[in-house]
Amino acid sequence: MARRPRDPQWYKDAIIYETHVRAFFDKNNDGVGDFAGLLSKLDYLQDLGITCLWLLPFFPSPQRDDGYDISDYRDVHPAYGTLEDFKLFVAAAHERDIRVLVELVVNHTSDQHPWFQAARRAPPGSPEREMYVWSDTDHKYKDARIIFTDTEKSNWTWDPEAQAYFWHRFFSHQPDLNFENPRVLREMLDVMRFWLDMDVDGFRLDAIPYLCEAEGTNCENLPKTHEVVKQIRDFVDRGYPGRLLLAEANQWPADVRPYFGEGDECHMAFHFPLMPRIFMALRLEDTRPIVDIMGQTPPIPESSQWGLFLRNHDELTLEMVTTDERDYMYLAYSADPRMRVNIGIRRRLAPLVEGSRRRIELLNSLLFSFPGTPILYYGDEIGMGDNVYLGDRNGVRTPMQWSADRNGGFSRCNPAALYSQPIMDPVYGYQTVNVEAQLENSSSLLAWMRNMIALRKLFKVFGRGSIEFLPVENRAVLAYLRRWDRDVILCVANFSRFAQPAQLPLERFRGFTPVEMFGYTEFPRIGDSSYPITLGRYGFYWFELTEPADLP
Ligand code: GLC
Repeated sequence: MARRPRDPQWYKDAIIYETHVRAFFDKNNDGVGDFAGLLSKLDYLQDLGITCLWLLPFFPSPQRDDGYDISDYRDVHPAYGTLEDFKLFVAAAHERDIRVLVELVVNHTSDQHPWFQAARRAPPGSPEREMYVWSDTDHKYKDARIIFTDTEKSNWTWDPEAQAYFWHRFFSHQPDLNFENPRVLREMLDVMRFWLDMDVDGFRLDAIPYLCEAEGTNCENLPKTHEVVKQIRDFVDRGYPGRLLLAEANQWPADVRPYFGEGDECHMAFHFPLMPRIFMALRLEDTRPIVDIMGQTPPIPESSQWGLFLRNHDELTLEMVTTDERDYMYLAYSADPRMRVNIGIRRRLAPLVEGSRRRIELLNSLLFSFPGTPILYYGDEIGMGDNVYLGDRNGVRTPMQWSADRNGGFSRCNPAALYSQPIMDPVYGYQTVNVEAQLENSSSLLAWMRNMIALRKLFKVFGRGSIEFLPVENRAVLAYLRRWDRDVILCVANFSRFAQPAQLPLERFRGFTPVEMFGYTEFPRIGDSSYPITLGRYGFYWFELTEPADLP
């Protein structure tokens, strides 16, 4: 067994890095990334300072949804290596104190999965058939929305073999499993056991709100679904305490809250509504959307934690904003209609902010100082770009850019053999944006990110403390206190493209000295009246508020 720090709440202090095995590094030079390649880049990840890897699906799959269409839950896709390679990789990651989360696609399988192949042939009502959700009509569950609006017209698809419709919340090649059938949960727990016994540290539970259906509802977040999640948690806690469940529930805060249960469902859940509002605030130069959504975010159980992210492998989803906000976001961030997919914007972090280093740093300052665990998307630490000419969400899943060599140093194969072209435009292309060049430049984004991660890791208050927003008259400026134990941190951020002043109501800290955390610079002591501060464009500060007695 690998070493594992004893703290069962390790995820609160984690820095998570999301990547796809396929996209990271190709060791055998066949054009597709593999586990041997990922293993060989663990030193890079360790130096970056991340403490946990979340791997996108790497299981056998027809790859019609980038692996979220699983045809075998107990193996590794042959293009990425073998189970043996996976085990070696996990052991090597653990040796570096890097934990490994894998994807658990619980809601659906590929239509090529043997369960589905058996189901469509089995007689109606038989246990085999009942692994999935069938109907004679496509009129059931009419109140459930369609998620992949660009490709799907209905959540039902006719199967000529079964002579019935099957239910799917995503692509029509991804039939939903039927959690009314107890065998489905048993099978899923078996799958979990399989990977947990291989020492993985937890799972991202994909598409968790859609497990169960009921007539007259929108078929999301149903009590039956929460029952299933509770059973999954119970299974983990009994056999594998300390392993993590991270909920992908793209819902409003009030509907995500139940996925923590009373500390008896998921340990973590993504904060989906916060993410688009960060981008909105940036474009509006008005921090209100952030303060509003944080105000609507209910408290969570002591053992629970939000997962924070700026970008991920999917589109920047605009499902959790109002119609007006959505229109604004489309206008502000996707001038070219090719940048849109389903209800969202398929772009990476750097191009979203027009390559502005200041804005990238500002957004990361929020990612690393808001209550929750930061989740970085691979390539964003070097400011990689995207390719809006690729289909679906593939434009943000291009090969990691390691150097200015052929194929961006990702693979030595014939460029024609690559699973995807690397980014090659003059601004974000691998000849300009790559790890090797940024490692050699101490003022690169990569160097800045390493510094940021290292600083964040020194202060547990960021992952564990409370947050309080200070009322500031200037709405371009966000000021908040993070507190935990005796630590008090003051963060101030300017969302404007111009310099801004602000008066911070800090009277209750009279006599304290704000010490800027990146340079350990003492700022003027806090006095009897509000504290004046000025920030450069898109500037931010983190201060430790130090009691008079604590100063040297
Ligand atoms: C989740 C994944 C997405 C996938 C979908 C269907 O939303 O993040 O990439 O397409 O589930 O599995």
